[in-house]
Amino acid sequence: MKKLSEVNLSSLPQGFMWGAATASFQIEGGYASGDRGRCIWDDLCDVPGAISDGTKDCVGVEHLTHLEEDLDLIKWMNLDTYRFSFSWPRVQPTGSGEFSEKGMQFYDRLVDGLLARGIIPNATLYHWDLPSELQTIGGWANPVVVDKFVAYAEKMAERFADRITYWATFNEPWCTTYLGNTIGVHAPGIKDLPTTVKVAHQLVRAHALASAAIKRKAPKAKVGVVLNLGDQILLGESSPQAQKDLQTVDGLVNRWWLQGMLQGKYPVDILDIFEELTGIRPDEKEIADTSNGRDWVGLNYYQAGVFKAADTGIDVHPGTKAIDGALFGNEVTDIGWSWTPDGFNKTLHYINNMFPQIPILITENGACYNNEPGTDGEIHDDKREEYLSLYISAAVRARSEGVNLVGYYVWSLLDNFEWSFGFSKRFGIVFVDLETMKRTPKQSAHSYRAMIQK
Ligand code: FCB
Repeated sequence: MKKLSEVNLSSLPQGFMWGAATASFQIEGGYASGDRGRCIWDDLCDVPGAISDGTKDCVGVEHLTHLEEDLDLIKWMNLDTYRFSFSWPRVQPTGSGEFSEKGMQFYDRLVDGLLARGIIPNATLYHWDLPSELQTIGGWANPVVVDKFVAYAEKMAERFADRITYWATFNEPWCTTYLGNTIGVHAPGIKDLPTTVKVAHQLVRAHALASAAIKRKAPKAKVGVVLNLGDQILLGESSPQAQKDLQTVDGLVNRWWLQGMLQGKYPVDILDIFEELTGIRPDEKEIADTSNGRDWVGLNYYQAGVFKAADTGIDVHPGTKAIDGALFGNEVTDIGWSWTPDGFNKTLHYINNMFPQIPILITENGACYNNEPGTDGEIHDDKREEYLSLYISAAVRARSEGVNLVGYYVWSLLDNFEWSFGFSKRFGIVFVDLETMKRTPKQSAHSYRAMIQK
C-alpha cells in the first residue's frame, strides 16, 4: 500500500477523530521579542554542540506571528481536532507567581480560532519547555516543581474550562526522564541516575495531582497523558539474561508509565532495579489518586524499540542505546527510524489488553523526510505518504480487531524544530521555507485532507 487513498476506513466508527499535532517550543518562537520567559530548551540551544545544526535563539516556525494563517491551514485540511501544547513560560514566565495576560491571550486566540472553525482543541500542558528558573531548583527531581506544575494546571483549567475538553498533562515523560536526565541529549542535559529515578517518580505524581487540579476547575474535562510506548525487540542471541533485560526495557518504557500514571502502581521489577542502581525506591503511596487522569490515553508511536542482547547493561537504559533502524534491516526514514507498522498494531493491542476500558488516541505518528520543493514547486513526499498509509492501516486494523481507538493525529502539521536535530529533520505534512516562513502543503497533506474529507 503506497497511497492514503488506498486505506480502507470503512470499519471506523462515526465520530473517529482525525487531527494533526504540534508543540509550543517547536513552532511558536517569541523569546527574543520578550513574549515569553526562558525555558530549558533555550538554555540547551546555548550549549555548544548540543543541537546538531547549531540552532540558537530558536524561533520555531514563527507560529506566534502566523497564527491566523496556521488556523486556516488546519481548517483547509479538514481536521476534526488539533493537538497543541501550552508554553508554560509564555503564560507564567518563571514558573512561579504572576501569570502573563499577554501569554494567555495568545492561547485565547488559538483556542477561539479553532472553535470558530469547528475544530476540537486538545491541549498538552507540558511538552518539554520547563521555565529555566525551575531547573535552577532541581527541575522535575524536586517535588516543589510538581506543586508549581499543579498550580499552573489549575490556572489553565480555570481559564479554558469553557472551551477545552481534551487535556493531557505530559508529553512523553519517558523522554523527559531518560533523554533529559540519563543520556542528556535533551534539556536539561543531565546524565545522572539518581536524578533519573527521582524524575521518573515525580512525573507520575505530577500527572495524578495535576489531573485532579484540572478536574477541580473543569469537571467536564477529559484528562489523559501522552506516552511514547512501544514493542521492544531483542536482536541477537536470546539467553535467559537477555530475556530478563527485554522485560526490564518493557518495564522502563511501557509499564512504569501505564501502571504508574493510570493505576497508581509501580512495577516491582523496575522498583528493584532502581533501588539496586541508586538506592532510591520510589514509594507508590506518594502518587495519590490517579482516577482523574485516565479519561483517555495518548500513544505516540514511530518505531519499535530495538536493542541487541550484547548491548544490555541496564545502567544506561538499553532501550535508548541501540535504537538504530538499520540494525533491524527495515526501511528507515531520514532520521534513521525504522518502519514498523506491525509494531504499531501490537502496541495498540498491548495498551488495550491492559486497559480495555480506556479510550486510546494516537497523539503522534509520522515520518521524517526532508523533501524540498521540486521544479514544479510541489513537495513530492511519497515516502511519507507510503509510511502513513501503512501505519494508518495498521491502526484501523487494530480498531477492527476490537481496540478502543478513537482518534489519530499526524505528527506534524508543520516542519519544525526537531529538538537536538534542530531544523535538519522535517516531519511536517506542510513544508515551511525557513527563510521566508512560507507554508506549502506537501503531497501528503493533500492526500491526508482528501482521505479524511467527510
Ligand atoms: C516525539 C515528540 C515530538 C516530535 C516527534 C518527532 O518524540 O513528542 O515533539 O519531536 O517525536
